Amino acid sequence: MTKYTFLEGYRFSNGLELKNRIVMAPMTTMSSFHDGHVTTDEVNYYHRRGGGPGMIITAVANVSEDGKGFEGAFSATDDRFIPDLTKIATAIKQDGTKAVLQIFHAGRMSNSRVLRGTQTVSASAIAAERPGAETPRALTEPEIEQIIEDFGEATLRAIKAGFDGVELHGANTYLLQQFVSPHSNRRTDQWGGSFENRLRFPLAVVKKVQEVIKENGSKTFLLGYRVSPEEFETPGIRLEDTFALIEKLKQAKIDYLHVSIGHISRTSMNDKTNLVPIVEQMLAVLNNELPLIGVGSMETPADVQKAMDDGLELVALGRELIREPQWVQKVMMNDEASIRYTISPTDFEELAIPRAMQTYLTSVYKEQIHLSTDAKPSSDAFLASAAPMEGYKK
Ligand SMILES: Cc1cc2nc3c(=O)[nH]c(=O)nc-3n(C[C@H](O)[C@H](O)[C@H](O)COP(=O)(O)O)c2cc1C
Repeated sequence: MTKYTFLEGYRFSNGLELKNRIVMAPMTTMSSFHDGHVTTDEVNYYHRRGGGPGMIITAVANVSEDGKGFEGAFSATDDRFIPDLTKIATAIKQDGTKAVLQIFHAGRMSNSRVLRGTQTVSASAIAAERPGAETPRALTEPEIEQIIEDFGEATLRAIKAGFDGVELHGANTYLLQQFVSPHSNRRTDQWGGSFENRLRFPLAVVKKVQEVIKENGSKTFLLGYRVSPEEFETPGIRLEDTFALIEKLKQAKIDYLHVSIGHISRTSMNDKTNLVPIVEQMLAVLNNELPLIGVGSMETPADVQKAMDDGLELVALGRELIREPQWVQKVMMNDEASIRYTISPTDFEELAIPRAMQTYLTSVYKEQIHLSTDAKPSSDAFLASAAPMEGYKK
């Protein structure tokens, strides 16, 4: 049997140990109740997948009421959600799998229908360049301070619910990214203008969350940060901006960085002369000072092993763990032949995929979820164009 190094354990510098280096990527299930309470369907979905990967990152949960991004998101906005969060953490934490809660504020990527009539907020009153995007209201300084507090309180709830860490969703064009971006942040106060000022909000959130962890969490409670490497808008975030942000995150001593990218081998979509894969460039900037979770269109054990050989510490699988919840166990049992790379609509229930998620997968992700009833598209679809969650639609 081939020795796969991704089956070896991993120890973060804060001491938290993972039993293997496979991470389940955060994927929203669209299946919570309208008010943010989790449904049994979601708990079952995580229960079906807990136990295999070393770590599972949950679907994203909003930290503020006006930070909800879409219908069916679960909430971390109030203590009444702690029992719900506990159910998710418990479902994940089977056989040593670690559970990380992803948290965010959607900012201008939400809309007034999802927010029940309330206008969206962002760094500045600039609409995203998307069909139907609404113009947000610019946050006041006290509101910015309140959202920083909200991230801290959501972290405390994650600790109380038994999670092993939180991941700040600084990617996919949501509020943390909106402050960094010169497209969405045109402020002239201390929260905007210079690049340094545009980093003030995400770095203040990191600091707040670290304080909460220090006061209330165990020494091994993780803080991760997810970034999207570049934006397509002009002005917009370019690779150099992301590399500068990574330097700051290194100095802030978070526990890991997570990239959001549709294909692990993707090169820059803005600078076509730069042919070095973005993940390789990020690894060089990280310089072994922070571990990187790589992601993007990996399906087979060989795909994952190649990414490990190229220098990644941890590899996240998204769609493949929807199709094949037993992926890790099958590799460990030398049963690769039975790994599913396509999914039959008749297996959705058996795979514990909630009904609303089924609809999402067979609409937005129809081409990329690899239904066995369709011709199998190439797994290179996200090499040259962005995935829906990366926030860009051509
Ligand atoms: C159904 C679905 C929901 C997603 N929801 C989230 C999310 O809540 N947070 C996030 O950071 N990324 C989200 N993503 C992006 C994934 O984490 C991942 O980056 C992407 O699917 C690429 O990995 P893959 O090729 O292994 O699927 C989602 C992806 C899918 C398919």
